[in-house]
Amino acid sequence: MAIAYLTRRISFAAAHRYRLPELSDEENTRRFGLCARPNYHGHSYACEVTVRGPIEERSGMIVDLADLDRVLERDVRSRFDHANLNLDIPEFAEGRLMPTGENLARFIFETVQRGLPAGGAMVCEVRVAEDTALSATYRGE
Ligand code: NI
Repeated sequence: MAIAYLTRRISFAAAHRYRLPELSDEENTRRFGLCARPNYHGHSYACEVTVRGPIEERSGMIVDLADLDRVLERDVRSRFDHANLNLDIPEFAEGRLMPTGENLARFIFETVQRGLPAGGAMVCEVRVAEDTALSATYRGE
């Protein structure tokens, strides 16, 4: 069976900060530097979601692109765009997941996989870039 990979790229702008509630403000600043600033800061995120599956003979596709786009819009972009990740997304509230690129990549991986039709293409990689100099990749391992 011929296996192929398909990557969709989406973008969203979002604010965040890094803060561990068990540390004082000074300790958070020592640990996370500018990322701990109390008034948050923003990034223009670029996110690449790659799915893997067998090429369906008649359509020549591994996934219905409309299905993938619907999940990406509903479960990722519309929730994250122009949001404060710490305040607007419960999973990234203080004391839960830190809104790092690594955790965002993992969260998006699991969210998109849950949203895709069962038995079809599987998410195999999510890359989240804060800017052109830093990206994080999660492969579900
Ligand atoms: Ni940041």
